[in-house]
Amino acid sequence: MNMSLMTVAYIGATMLFILSLGGLSNPETSRRGNLFGIIGMAIAITATLLGPQVTGIASFLNILVAMAAGGALGIYAAVRVKMTQMPELVALMHSLVGLAACLVGFATYIDPTAHFTGAEKIIHEVEIYVGILIGAITFSGSLIAFGKLSGKIGGKPLLLPARHLLNLGLLIVVIAAGRWFLQIETVAAGLVPLLLMTAISLLFGIHMVMAIGGADMPVVVSMLNSYSGWAASATGFMLSNDLLIVVGALVGSSGAILSYIMCRAMNRNFIAVIAGGFGTGGGKAPAAGDPSTPQGEVQAISAAETASLLRQAESVIIVPGYGMAVAQAQHTVCEITTLLRDKGVNVRFGIHPVAGRMPGHMNVLLAEARVPYDIVMEMDEINHDFPNTDVAMVIGANDIVNPVAQENPDSPIAGMPVLEVWNAKQTIVMKRSMASGYAGIDNTLFYKENNRMLFGDAKKMLDEVLGSLRQA
Ligand code: TAP
Repeated sequence: MNMSLMTVAYIGATMLFILSLGGLSNPETSRRGNLFGIIGMAIAITATLLGPQVTGIASFLNILVAMAAGGALGIYAAVRVKMTQMPELVALMHSLVGLAACLVGFATYIDPTAHFTGAEKIIHEVEIYVGILIGAITFSGSLIAFGKLSGKIGGKPLLLPARHLLNLGLLIVVIAAGRWFLQIETVAAGLVPLLLMTAISLLFGIHMVMAIGGADMPVVVSMLNSYSGWAASATGFMLSNDLLIVVGALVGSSGAILSYIMCRAMNRNFIAVIAGGFGTGGGKAPAAGDPSTPQGEVQAISAAETASLLRQAESVIIVPGYGMAVAQAQHTVCEITTLLRDKGVNVRFGIHPVAGRMPGHMNVLLAEARVPYDIVMEMDEINHDFPNTDVAMVIGANDIVNPVAQENPDSPIAGMPVLEVWNAKQTIVMKRSMASGYAGIDNTLFYKENNRMLFGDAKKMLDEVLGSLRQA
């Protein structure tokens, strides 16, 4: 395939990727968006394989073997992963993009066939330096995010003394090493500042994510998604591959937009997130009598009583959370919704932007169970409706309905907007125990006068509720 044909194929693939992103922004068009992405990637890979950069049968075969090995691992991971482990897998995938950028950077630098002089040499070396820098931060940061999301590393933020000064110091060393790198003439000597910068970037990635508190992890995951896009783009510059530059920029900018949206949803400062080490909530331990320590008694309710309350209600808002995903209760939720709607009850869903463990987690589950889209509302659309609601049913959610976010300025979730379910006439919280949620803090909603706790696995309890509703 000649260069112009390859350029046409790359432009076609780019357009398909843009259509794919557009499609993925809405549950109704997301399948089509996914298909566009698959076709775009197939075109991109075929054009690259047949393009002028792959010379000789040996390199062609090398690529095919690498693709087969990587593809087999990818299929194995995708088949084995549970829906609740998806964010960890995504974090792990981001780390691979970062690692690839680092390896390509070093390979490009030591490539004995590359000969650049003057301004071209400087541009080439800046590309390498920046590519490895972003790649190394993405690699180590994503590995720590994987550890935190999978529970292998504790969710508590690691707050080193003078951490902002430490970060600033690291940045100054990276800039100085960059200057030194650009002045060096031989590859062997250039490897010293390059390796120094790589080590510092790896440390920075670890430090940045280790300093993030539990409930703020979603913002970090979307930010690492953005970093992985920029790392891919930097790789594109190093390899002079236009498609990789454009696609990397698409992922980088859409990840940055997602991070911005998440920051707004969590009421966090975007710049503070980029700089790292936020979300520590002041770090004060809860004092006695503090709203974040357990207070008062909870009142339990049975599945039959829950069904009776739902039956008598005129309006119901269901708030799903991570526990609904764990229990895979979405299909039973949908059946209860249909039954109540058939009886004339106004049933709607309230979706918090960071409910579950990945962006759009609840929307995906509800769409899979075929809950109509028009009754699935965003937090901002439904929060003011709770005072006019008879029953707010919280299914396996905790942090996203915790009044502590508004009550205690020292809490790790202070300032995070939450679904104000307690304003409904009656709330029912469905969970297995009094355990805390992802942020690791107690929930004062449980002790409110108008709240009842339905203890048990969400799927099992909802099956019982459905059974009671059907009997009536
Ligand atoms: P959480 O605050 O994590 O609460 C989930 C609750 O579900 C737990 O308290 C747990 O209580 C209950 N649960 C677990 N398994 C259950 C089961 N089988 N049946 C019934 N209940 C079950 O979840 P949330 O309210 O959805 O909030 C999300 C949290 O995750 C936020 O802190 C958010 O910042 C964080 N996070 C979100 C994302 C994204 S992008 N969405 C990514 C990373 C982190 P029991 O153990 O007592 O049952």
